[in-house]
Amino acid sequence: EIGCGKGQFAREIAKRNPDKNFLAVEKSSNVIVDAAQMAIDEGIPNLRFARGEAEYLDCFIPEKSVECIYLNFSCPYPKNTYARHRLTYRAFLEIYRRILVDKGEIYQKTDNMHFFEFSLEEFSAANYGLKNISLDLHNSDFEGNIVTEYEKKFSDIGMPIYRLEAFVK
Ligand SMILES: C[S@@+](CC[C@H](N)C(=O)[O-])C[C@H]1O[C@@H](n2cnc3c(N)ncnc32)[C@H](O)[C@@H]1O
Repeated sequence: EIGCGKGQFAREIAKRNPDKNFLAVEKSSNVIVDAAQMAIDEGIPNLRFARGEAEYLDCFIPEKSVECIYLNFSCPYPKNTYARHRLTYRAFLEIYRRILVDKGEIYQKTDNMHFFEFSLEEFSAANYGLKNISLDLHNSDFEGNIVTEYEKKFSDIGMPIYRLEAFVK
């Protein structure tokens, strides 16, 4: 997961999938320390944390070594002048392509319709395939959703949750 915040999602998915390894990346030292401490307290051997920025993922993660990437409620950076900071901006999608295995996948969730529209455009422009797009995840037939910290905040105030799956073609 990139931008794991306090790591609630990462801890839960790692617990549900003990046979897979997970890496939670976060640029903010404050929150990643809390996230890592909770994972240590709960004893989750298949989850590791890296304090770092998505911009440099391919400097510390080997090429074609990642099966899937989770982008949960990434900062939407609403001002157009900040579009290049959005984690689905095309330059990030090229970085992800380098670390993903062939046919690797990216799963994005957001409450922000404009960011979601932007992401669909960026994935298409970067030649990713798209599937299983939902404009209202919580009222869809999607099973096994892990509600993240921000997802709970937004759905509690009635915001629909958008979700997509992108894959390397
Ligand atoms: C809105 S929070 C979402 C946290 C969590 N994924 C959730 O769904 O509850 C977004 C997180 O992404 C982190 N972030 C933003 N840009 C980043 C970047 N370029 N690299 C790594 N983390 C980033 C922020 O520090 C923040 O903790």
